[in-house]
Amino acid sequence: MTQTIYVLNGPNLNLLGTREPEIYGYDTLDDIAGMMEDHARGLGLEVDVRQSNHEGHLIDWMHEAQAEGAKAIIINPGAYTHTSIALFDAAKSIKVPVIEVHLSDPLKREEFRHISYVGMAAVKSITGQGPKGYILALDHAATL
Ligand code: DQA
Repeated sequence: MTQTIYVLNGPNLNLLGTREPEIYGYDTLDDIAGMMEDHARGLGLEVDVRQSNHEGHLIDWMHEAQAEGAKAIIINPGAYTHTSIALFDAAKSIKVPVIEVHLSDPLKREEFRHISYVGMAAVKSITGQGPKGYILALDHAATL
């Protein structure tokens, strides 16, 4: 059976392509999802790419990933990265490994972005590589 990687995207990432393109680039989330699907196929994996502007949805999907036996979770929690102890707890509450991805490098931006709660529970963090970061995260997931 093909193993599934949940790819969870948080608030405002539905606007990729038009949202501050000088920071996040011109690729839409659909473009990124397409790239990931192609790359996952080559790795013999499947991706389930989702986006929500609601913290609780992201938490429910992390629990679902565990219940469904997902191989890994790749998550870009958007601004919840820097605020959500609930997402940190969710990552700690499941056995599915969590990989954190950010298009930009939060450490090179405003100070309020310098803390990552999810990052504290993640097996790996990939930042500042644009959409390629999601592909690198998939490569890492394949090794887990
Ligand atoms: C982001 C970085 C966060 O600080 C920001 O709130 C986002 C996007 C990124 O992918 O670079 O929404 O996660």
